[in-house]
Parts: sequence; structure tokens; C-alpha cells
Amino acid sequence: MPTPLIAGNWKMNTTVQEAALLAGHLRGSLGGVTSVEVVLCPPFVSLAEVARAVQGSAIKVGAQNMHHEDKGAFTGEVSPLMLLGLCQYVILGHSERRRDFAETDAVVNRKVHKALASGLRPILCVGELLADRQAGREEAVVTASLKASLEGVTSPDGLVVAYEPVWAIGTGLAATPQQAQAMCALVRRLLAGQFGREQASALRVLYGGSVTPANIQELASQPDIDGGLVGGASLNAAQFADIVRTTVSVRP
Ligand code: 13P
Repeated sequence: MPTPLIAGNWKMNTTVQEAALLAGHLRGSLGGVTSVEVVLCPPFVSLAEVARAVQGSAIKVGAQNMHHEDKGAFTGEVSPLMLLGLCQYVILGHSERRRDFAETDAVVNRKVHKALASGLRPILCVGELLADRQAGREEAVVTASLKASLEGVTSPDGLVVAYEPVWAIGTGLAATPQQAQAMCALVRRLLAGQFGREQASALRVLYGGSVTPANIQELASQPDIDGGLVGGASLNAAQFADIVRTTVSVRP
């Protein structure tokens, strides 16, 4: 069983100063935790400060996005070369980027290839809309999205997949542990189809969407859920630490 992972996606929150403060608090409470991997994903402008704040501890750092080219005329973008040395992980294909910045599976696929080739570990996000679930097509949607996002990938070392149903993000309405388990099991079957059973069982599959200290225990107890991608609750040091500690106790 892989080491569980709890990642905090801070989204477009925290100034540089606030980010350093939050990271410092979390280093104090979680810096020695090794049985669960802890990853903080602050905004780009705070990556260096957060990396400094957790340096020498077990806590890792991730970016929330990146471009698929190393450099060039892409105003406002950040490349993998710029992230190397600042962070180990990068969230790719988050539903907010798909929705607000028109990121398609094809674009996400280029980013996944680039991250893996660059030595950054992608946290690839997939998930269905409420309308998809209401129509009973959540499995078909996630299958198509995951396959397209991973097309041509043959060496997935370091890859993490986060199942994030869009209807559960920021709504306080998390998927039930049964719903989350069913979809994470689907993700793992798809990974096994592409990379083989052994490789698939070594990759982390996370659940994301209104994860809190109150629901993480049941979620993390599911056989195919190797941790969580946490939004809102990751901005609160006490709540995030609680989520990590509960995961430690569930998956010792
Ligand atoms: P919330 O935990 O705020 O629902 O956000 C989930 C998310 O989008 C993490 O990437």
C-alpha cells in the first residue's frame, strides 16, 4: 500500500506573508509526520517562502498549475523549469482551471507528460459535474477524462490522481465514502489497465471535495482512497493538521 498523501490546495488565497505564516504553523505541528506525506500548494508567488518555511521538515510543496513548455512567449505563465527546486508536486487539470481557463484534457495531457519528464510529480485532477452524476454518467465522464489526460504516458512514477467531483468542491457537500470509494476504485482499475496491476496499486489515488476533519476518517478508511486533496480546510492550520493526524491514525 502506498504512503497516504494529504495535499492542501490553497487556491488563490494567502498573501506571501500569510502563506509563510501558515506554512510555519504547519511545520510546527506536522513537520515530523512521515507516515502520511503532507504537501502544501500555495500560490506561485509564495512557493519560495513556503519552501523555505518547511525546509528540513518532512513537508513537501506543490504548485497549482504550470505551462507545458520550458520557456517562451507565454505571458503570465510559469514553466516546469521555474518550479524545479521550489516544489516537488504540481496540481494539473483542476476543475477550476478546466472551467475558468478552458483547459481541455488535451492540454492537461501535455502538462502531465511535461511534469513527469521534468521530475515534477503531477497531482492530476478528474471529476464529473453535477449534471453528469444526475444523468448517471459519472463513470463514463471520468473514464474518458482520465484516459485522455494520461494518453501516451508509459512511466507514471510519481503520478497522483485526485478524484474531485465538481459538485463537492467548496459546497460542503462531500461525496459519501461509498461514492468516493467507487470512483477511486474506477480510477485504479483504469490505471491498472494502462500501467499494470502492480504499478496501479503503488500509485496514490486521492479524494477531493469538501474534505474536513469530520469526514476524513471514513474517506481515508476506504481501500482505494490514499488520502485527500483539501481546499477550504487547508487554509486553517488546526483543521488541516487534524485531517493529517486522523489520516495517520486510519492508515498507520
Ligand atoms: P474544498 O475542499 O474547498 O471543497 O476544495 C476541494 C478542492 O478543489 C481541492 O483541490
